Amino acid sequence: ETASEPETADVLVVGSGIAGCAAALQAAREGSDVLLLTKATKPDDASTDWAQGGISTTRGDPESLKEDILDASDGTADPDAVDTLVENADDAVEDVLLDTLEIEFDETEGGEFDYTREAAHSEYRILHVDAATGTHILRPFLNHVDDHENIDVRQDTAALELLTHEGRVHGVLTDEETTGHPIYAGATILATGGIGALYTRSTNPDDATGDGIAMAALAGADVADLEYVQFHPTAYAGDDPFLLSEALRGEGAVLRNGDVSESEDSEARETESPGGERFMDDYHPQGDLAPRDVVARAVETEREETGEVVLDVSTLEGEFAEEYPAIAEKCRDRGVEGDEIPVAPCEHFLCGGIDVDENGRTSLDRLYAVGECARTGVHGANRLASTSLLEGLVWGLRAGGDAVESGADPEIVEAPELRNSDPELPERFAAEKSIRLKRTMDEYLGLERDPDEIARASAVLRRLKGEVDAYIRTRTARDLYELRNASVVALLIARAASENTESTGCHYVVSEGESAAEQPADD
Ligand code: SIN
Repeated sequence: ETASEPETADVLVVGSGIAGCAAALQAAREGSDVLLLTKATKPDDASTDWAQGGISTTRGDPESLKEDILDASDGTADPDAVDTLVENADDAVEDVLLDTLEIEFDETEGGEFDYTREAAHSEYRILHVDAATGTHILRPFLNHVDDHENIDVRQDTAALELLTHEGRVHGVLTDEETTGHPIYAGATILATGGIGALYTRSTNPDDATGDGIAMAALAGADVADLEYVQFHPTAYAGDDPFLLSEALRGEGAVLRNGDVSESEDSEARETESPGGERFMDDYHPQGDLAPRDVVARAVETEREETGEVVLDVSTLEGEFAEEYPAIAEKCRDRGVEGDEIPVAPCEHFLCGGIDVDENGRTSLDRLYAVGECARTGVHGANRLASTSLLEGLVWGLRAGGDAVESGADPEIVEAPELRNSDPELPERFAAEKSIRLKRTMDEYLGLERDPDEIARASAVLRRLKGEVDAYIRTRTARDLYELRNASVVALLIARAASENTESTGCHYVVSEGESAAEQPADD
């Protein structure tokens, strides 16, 4: 490439989690030249690498998985999207994970897959590698993609803007040059992940700043369901939170509150488990395995009322440290000894995102979105455990294939102009504004939302975005663009939350003075 020859790719994929890898793989298999662009410098910059519990299969019964997905979403998931997921699930797992990547999922002594179960699953149907499944999938996947002759992987490179012309997307502008570097593509597939960096406590890596959602929305793509931010009920409650997989509860671990004095069998408790009372049966017929949004609110309520909630792993079928070595090591690192791990809810997954169809097509021509940044309709208002890796895999493959079939050639269009110039950016500008953004989201757009507070959040976020916009396009500073993206998505979440006055799934609306504590038990 020379200065006079613009850089082009048949298919450009942005993001290097499971969805991006799957899209790149399928497009490359079908003969396209693929450029996979990622701001990551190491595998664990992608949320996939952090995924614990596993990847759901249907175990030959798509209808039963469909029913569980619809139930967990409180009937709000799109049945057609769920059909697309369940009808393609087992083939995608077999083709990519078993045949191509040869991932060795845990097996029983008899050599069968050791399927596990997580909350709101009626069957044992989840493939896993202890509870570090994401790492065991992503690392071989990245190696495979990297070795593929049709795929060029470029790390440590951020997409800043989409290149658009007359409602059509023609690639991205990257931060490879100080005034921005355009890459033109026949199809652009966003696979940029979630929004954990919008909250102080998240189970995502720090760079989950909602980049794809912001870039797509700024280019005019439709977004949907952004109020449905899923909080995982069991993250470590102390500093530097980490996920305690739902698979633990699926295999027998239980939640206990801080109410030690009233526990029925205090003598046994003292010897076996000093923790408090079990409480989930008071909230939902499925008890500790109720849908995630219900458990998250219950945990928060019990923390407020009784001081703490712990996950008791003494009741697990197997030995905690042996069965879940990666989680046990994190506990040890944080100084947690014994069988009771203090837990609190923590931002985990965005159920909404860029609105796409069954092939990952967005409302903008030649733009696709897959994985967490996309809203396929599979999750509705609350996602069922172990469906996110699956959704990324299935939609990644479909979008990669569709992008090749559509056969568009790259076209050179005018790129937005970035000036590498004044004004001088105040030191720590992005870091300080990012803290303000996170605090606003924590306080007003967390587990419970009050309409007045949402309005307050919107005002703060609008001001913040205005401050950021004053500097955007004056330089390619990545942290500034990440902050711009985070503030765009935060505002969109606030808008979606204010427009939906009904409590459904992850979006729980309270009026002033009310809290989840007043939530009637579901019986
Ligand atoms: C977990 O392991 O609990 C998380 C699984 C998921 O979010 O799908």
